[in-house]
Amino acid sequence: MEIRHMGPIGALITGVDVKTMDDAAFAKIYRTWLDCNVICVRDQQLQIDDFLAYSRRFGDVSPHPAKSTRHPERPEITLLGTNKFRADGTLDQDIYRRGAEGFHTDGSYEEVPYKATQLYAIAIPNQGGDTFFSSGYAAYEALPQRLQERLEGRYGLFKYGGRKQANALLNAEDRTVPPVRHPLVRVHPETGRKLLYFDQNKILSIEGLEATESDAIIDEMTAFMIEPPDQYRHQWKKGDVVIWDNRCSYHKAAGDYPPEQDRIHWRVSIKSR
Ligand code: SIN
Repeated sequence: MEIRHMGPIGALITGVDVKTMDDAAFAKIYRTWLDCNVICVRDQQLQIDDFLAYSRRFGDVSPHPAKSTRHPERPEITLLGTNKFRADGTLDQDIYRRGAEGFHTDGSYEEVPYKATQLYAIAIPNQGGDTFFSSGYAAYEALPQRLQERLEGRYGLFKYGGRKQANALLNAEDRTVPPVRHPLVRVHPETGRKLLYFDQNKILSIEGLEATESDAIIDEMTAFMIEPPDQYRHQWKKGDVVIWDNRCSYHKAAGDYPPEQDRIHWRVSIKSR
């Protein structure tokens, strides 16, 4: 197995088959993932059961609330990029640009947010379609001290769709789930490092602050998240398996590939056991 560090975060792993690797090889992969926030294992040839079995080595696979984009026979799998054209031929932007509306972390609307998200690349366009990642550790360190102090011990209220109520991918019956609260400054349970937990697309308010101050801080952090520090840009190849740590990373899709081309991934959401 070869592990290539791609910068302050991100690692590219080659020379291993995730279907057959032993526990020692997996331990090395898991350690690299904790250290690097996001890893890609390249050149994999997986069936759905292989992908699920590998994903379950990281934790419990949990079906995503957007039922309309679940795999019809395997609800644990979300399909990214399929059915992006409507019957009348128009492009469904909610599917085409899914994940492209700014850096975010997955599952902050859940009582227990996703530990990880993993994607397997089925079809990749010949231009565009990259995914950007950045680090919650570096974001915390780069915050002005004034904000670090203001956010210490504070909770954010999070809901799918956030302040814009961008919940078109949810079925109507799933849109009224109440918000959940999470600490904004926290310590990663496995690395012990301090980080900023923030999601501009899902946060509603900061508990305990007047609405004007809460909105002002959310706007300031949203502006900060346009170019957060310690980024890694992943250029996909078919057969890539990429997993990121939602507890300490943000990501966004570029949302820029030619729509007439396919960009299709299987995706799983993974929770801690
Ligand atoms: C996501 O935001 O979860 C998807 C990222 C991507 O499609 O690149």
